Amino acid sequence: MPGRPSDPLWHAVSTFGLDFVHLPPGAAASRGAPVSPQTDPGISSVRRAMSDLAAEVAGCRACRLAETRKLPVFGEGNPDSGVVFVGEGPGQTEDETGRPFVGRAGQLLDRILASIDLDRTCCYIANAVKCRPPGNRVPLPDEMEACGWILERQLEIISPGVIVALGASAASALLGSRASIAQLRVGWHSRGEASLMVTYHPSAVLRTPALKRPVWEDMKKLRSRLNEIGLPRRSGNG
Ligand code: URA
Repeated sequence: MPGRPSDPLWHAVSTFGLDFVHLPPGAAASRGAPVSPQTDPGISSVRRAMSDLAAEVAGCRACRLAETRKLPVFGEGNPDSGVVFVGEGPGQTEDETGRPFVGRAGQLLDRILASIDLDRTCCYIANAVKCRPPGNRVPLPDEMEACGWILERQLEIISPGVIVALGASAASALLGSRASIAQLRVGWHSRGEASLMVTYHPSAVLRTPALKRPVWEDMKKLRSRLNEIGLPRRSGNG
């Protein structure tokens, strides 16, 4: 089905910067209503475990990144959703706010999510390292190592059906692979019970607009897989 202004997802897709798309079957299928705090009777055990972990690691000084960070960036979103996006590490805006993906790359990530009818209320967003590497350099292997257990615990708590690795650091943290994104994005990987997709990091897309097209191809595959397995779960109490 070619994307046209009348398509339900067209507005979101056009903000992603493409002018013509094919939506996968079922892409616009309606899913459950978003959770409203008013109708939320309590916090889910998953959310409770996640906030306990956040409290446990808030003062972490396990590696040199603790010396230069302003705020650790633990992760945020819906840990009950079954869908996790993993980036590399906080940049300047994230370091200042304590929230993942809120700078330019984050704004693009929001548009990428919207292009397949997702937002931060129906996925969880985390990073391979929780503290900003100075000058936004790539995290070093020992920093990834020191931080790895936190991402591991987050994934244990969430028990996701689908994980999306954004860029090489995330792919390395999640798959232990140093292969190129071009190689790793071909096909799905398995990680425990989860299907894992590797795609380009939004910062790479900002630097190289030609990567929009492969990322869009990956997002269509992701949307199809989510439709097949009935994710994301939009609620999360109990
Ligand atoms: N890049 C990342 O990998 N993570 C963030 O949180 C922000 C930018």
